[in-house]
Amino acid sequence: MKNYTSLSDIENLQELIAEALALKNENTSASFGKGKTLGMLFFNPSLRTRLSTEKAAKLLGMEVMVMNADKDGWALEFEDGAVMDSNKAEHIREAAAVLSQYCDIIAVRAFPGLIDRNKDEEDTVINSFVKYATVPVVNLESATGHPLQALTDAITVSELKKVNRPKVVLTWAPHPRALPQSVPNSFVEVMQKMDVDLVITNPEGYDLNPKVTKETTILHNQEEALQDADFVYVKNWSSYEDYGKILNEDRNWTFVKKKLEITNDAKVMHCLPVRRNVVIDDAVLDSGNSVVIHQANNRTFAAQVVLRRLLSRD
Ligand code: CP
Repeated sequence: MKNYTSLSDIENLQELIAEALALKNENTSASFGKGKTLGMLFFNPSLRTRLSTEKAAKLLGMEVMVMNADKDGWALEFEDGAVMDSNKAEHIREAAAVLSQYCDIIAVRAFPGLIDRNKDEEDTVINSFVKYATVPVVNLESATGHPLQALTDAITVSELKKVNRPKVVLTWAPHPRALPQSVPNSFVEVMQKMDVDLVITNPEGYDLNPKVTKETTILHNQEEALQDADFVYVKNWSSYEDYGKILNEDRNWTFVKKKLEITNDAKVMHCLPVRRNVVIDDAVLDSGNSVVIHQANNRTFAAQVVLRRLLSRD
């Protein structure tokens, strides 16, 4: 593995999941990363990604440097040939090259603007780091994907499934703010690589990028989709078609306890943070069906296996 910026960087998903679960069960720290440094740049807030990746690096024996790049760093210019007479003081060419002197792996979080779909799909920040850094780059959630979250989700489904081919339903839920499609995009992509029966359900106008969903079943009737589900992944995203817009705030899509009755006693997943009683009801989050904390714990092992692969470059 040279970089981990998208799910296409994974050669063998099952092997990676097995390795992550072995790391989880070993419960030992290693000296694998001794003398190596992880540098993390956050252009947006984080709790889980920041702390689980830092913990993973430290479990491998690495040093960690973290920077809130949006607040503490120089404003970056990404355009080649730019005449830099605006507020942007540093070009990505120097920034990525300098960071590569200090770090053995660079990890970056940069959300989309959700205004210009074409611009967001270029995923300029993460791709520019890949282009100009001379060390491996990890995506901590970019404009279009969240591959560390998706690997976590794949580990969690593998670990908790009770049947060989579980039914996994990704359901949209309401949210007061326009959110990126990164998490659902990567969740769909990773589930397409697994032996699961995947169904997506969302209101009209919320279908994800067809290049991501491909042949996956999309139902606009949540109740129909939830029938006999073994896992329900609840997540809000803004419209892809009417890019970045909130088209629907219908609380009938909130995941409430009654909906569990339609499922096969489903495990309920969410990447967190979750807006209680808007996205998922208290009664679900506080029930035995919720696996969101278990899922968040697996973030560490997903990050650990990726960092280990990048350090060994195998
Ligand atoms: N799931 C996730 O990425 O959480 P944070 O935004 O807190 O990192």
